[in-house]
Amino acid sequence: MRYLTAGESHGPCLTAMVEGLPSHMPVAVEDINIQLARRQEGYGRGERMKIEKDEVKILSGVRFSRTTGGPLTLQILNKDFESWKDVMSVQGPAVTRRRIHCPRPGHADLAGGIKYLHRDLRDVLERSSARETAIRVASCTLGRMLLKHFGVHVFSYVLAIGSVKVPEESRNLSYEDLEREAAASPVSCPHAESSLAMIEEIERARQQGDSLGGIIELVALNLVPGLGSHVQWDRRLDGRLARALMSIQGIKGVEIGEGFASAYKRGSQVHDPICLDEKKKIYRSSNRAGGLEGGITNGEPLVLRLAMKPIPTLTKPLPSVDLDTFSERPAQAERSDTCAVHAAAVVAEAVVAWELALAYREKFSGDSLEEMIGAYKHYCCLVEDYLAGKWKRPML
Ligand SMILES: Cc1cc2nc3c(=O)[nH]c(=O)nc-3n(C[C@H](O)[C@H](O)[C@H](O)COP(=O)(O)O)c2cc1C
Repeated sequence: MRYLTAGESHGPCLTAMVEGLPSHMPVAVEDINIQLARRQEGYGRGERMKIEKDEVKILSGVRFSRTTGGPLTLQILNKDFESWKDVMSVQGPAVTRRRIHCPRPGHADLAGGIKYLHRDLRDVLERSSARETAIRVASCTLGRMLLKHFGVHVFSYVLAIGSVKVPEESRNLSYEDLEREAAASPVSCPHAESSLAMIEEIERARQQGDSLGGIIELVALNLVPGLGSHVQWDRRLDGRLARALMSIQGIKGVEIGEGFASAYKRGSQVHDPICLDEKKKIYRSSNRAGGLEGGITNGEPLVLRLAMKPIPTLTKPLPSVDLDTFSERPAQAERSDTCAVHAAAVVAEAVVAWELALAYREKFSGDSLEEMIGAYKHYCCLVEDYLAGKWKRPML
């Protein structure tokens, strides 16, 4: 199962081809649009979010609301394109309007300019822009739809924006409460007091021409144990999730379970004991590993944390160099978000759902959804027996 995206930030549209979904999977376009709308929400987003109201169009691979097994083609129109027709023209004539020649520190402008030898850095900006995450969310939501048939639920919440952090003691809520509280917050924060402080922090940064990043926590519930594998480096699910998350624009750190904090503790304080309950079934008394051991899901909730750096485009720009005159000049400013942590959380949910769906697809392969579900149910019975000590295979 794979997908590729294409399209420029101010081009006519974003497109993706998604291949390898099983046949007969129900697809509701509206469910994709709900995720696209969530990506556009959140306090601190820029003017563009008011122009675009993203809606996906499915051009192939779905008939009468079900996958056929063939490749899906997805399209999201860029409503802003009307005002960019000359700048983004495929055939020309070339125009100098909106040329970018003073690269923004922290963005792909200079590194991409050097690599592809572009003098107009718009050729880099248009594709490096996080506008691409709209079509990524649309594609990966198909993975989320597949996971629904296996009872998997992926959600996230924001634990910090800039220097405002949810206090440790206020994080000890049930996952249900964390999700509900975050849904009621304009910055997806599960703690009302911190949520208000985050909004004030974003407003202050905006007024000062500055930007903010933050910390996202992401959870996946009801995962079957045994996804991913220890037997080969590229089959480890921890590595695959980290790669997918680090590929999101602006994400600079990924933690699994206690992550960095565990490095400061002793093994006895970190590893999760293996116990027997009153029915003599194996269970874990804690989940500091975040649901992954040896690159394999162990049946506990998957818990990931991500660090997003502050947005690179500043309305009070940092020093840069004008590539036309080769003199020092402030970086050019494009219309931009002040803070996009909430939006990045939606993107992160989508890419994690995709990676998990991929792992389900690999473990329970089959061309139709029915085949996958059959293999899944059989495996669940085996796992139940294993955890209860009833697995009959002779011991060697
Ligand atoms: C949802 C989302 C929205 C973003 N919005 C902006 C933005 O408006 N302006 C900006 O300069 N960067 C924005 N970024 C971050 C940049 O796209 C990112 O920093 C840039 O592509 C360079 O990649 P890197 O930070 O991973 O090195 C956003 C990122 C995400 C995930």
